[in-house]
Amino acid sequence: MQEQTVTFRILRGTIVNDKLVQRTQDFEVPCDATTTVLHALEWIKGEIDGTLTFRRSCRASICGSCGMYINGRSRLACKTKVNDILAGNVAKNIAPAKDGVIEVGPQRNQPVLKDLVVDIEPFYAKVKTLDPFVQDGPEKDEHVTKDSFSQVNMVSNCIMCGACYSDCTAMVENPDFFGPAALAKAYRFVADPREGNKTERLKELSEKNGIWDCTRCNMCIDACPKGVAPMEAIVKLRSLAMEAGITDNRGAKHAMVFKDDIATWGVLNEPFMLLKTAGVVGALGQLGNALNLAKVGKIPNPFPFDHKVDKLDEVKAIYRELQENPIDVRTRSDDSGPGAG
Ligand code: SF4
Ligand code: SF4
Ligand code: FES
Repeated sequence: MQEQTVTFRILRGTIVNDKLVQRTQDFEVPCDATTTVLHALEWIKGEIDGTLTFRRSCRASICGSCGMYINGRSRLACKTKVNDILAGNVAKNIAPAKDGVIEVGPQRNQPVLKDLVVDIEPFYAKVKTLDPFVQDGPEKDEHVTKDSFSQVNMVSNCIMCGACYSDCTAMVENPDFFGPAALAKAYRFVADPREGNKTERLKELSEKNGIWDCTRCNMCIDACPKGVAPMEAIVKLRSLAMEAGITDNRGAKHAMVFKDDIATWGVLNEPFMLLKTAGVVGALGQLGNALNLAKVGKIPNPFPFDHKVDKLDEVKAIYRELQENPIDVRTRSDDSGPGAG
């Protein structure tokens, strides 16, 4: 990239009479191939407008403080090169910027305090709720294997930047959801062979706002600048919870019915799935939705003879194989595994 002037469109915000008032402001910034979004923000603050407010510290993707919303995704400003945003970068999964403009705003799913600074207290509070420390118990002297270390290590790379939390689709619907970073942190303790409170942790995590509230949209994996893959940690927690017999909840029931349907028919039987997952009372609560779906022809035929797929034998063979050789989520670092539904 030749040295050139690039437009930065910054979503600025300030609190007026207890309400957030936001506006966009454009700045023309000289950039070259080495310029990061953080360099550009520093330049604006130093040369044009000292009131522009943002967090940063290490400038090296270590402290996690420069998390922002940059051209449609949550990213670290110090790790994001202007050139990658302008031209796009397939390897980094970045689409080219529209009209050559760099758009920068505060992270999402958190209250904005000023300009690009959000209130990170709720994000940290959720991590604290999950007791982020190893608890004493009978397993505390367990031998730490290479596999168990790699499970813990992957999640330990988290720098608490909030990018996953900001991009999480489940958070939009349910702000009380623990969110990807806290749940990944919880997995770090459940996976630790020294932890003495695994079953209790899994029980708590299986309740409302926990592991079963994730929609498995993959956004947190995509957003994480440190390769933590929070969704994979959540899926592993689901598998471990089910393995521990913690199945008396809607999420686990849904996963079991899902598995049974596919193993039996090769496709889902959605009307019966709701009934088996939520029970009669829960299903009746969804009657309004069901009627709306029926009106537009979206309720599939619940009768099994319409529900078998071609090559059902092959589907059953996959299940037999999984039955005989189950995936061990304790040793696989990148698999969605059973219980993923
Ligand atoms: S996969 Fe789950 S935790 Fe991750 S962003 Fe999507 S809903 Fe949130
Ligand atoms: S899991 Fe990744 S994206 Fe989420 S807070 Fe940790 S480092 Fe940031
Ligand atoms: S300034 Fe520390 S991660 Fe960007």
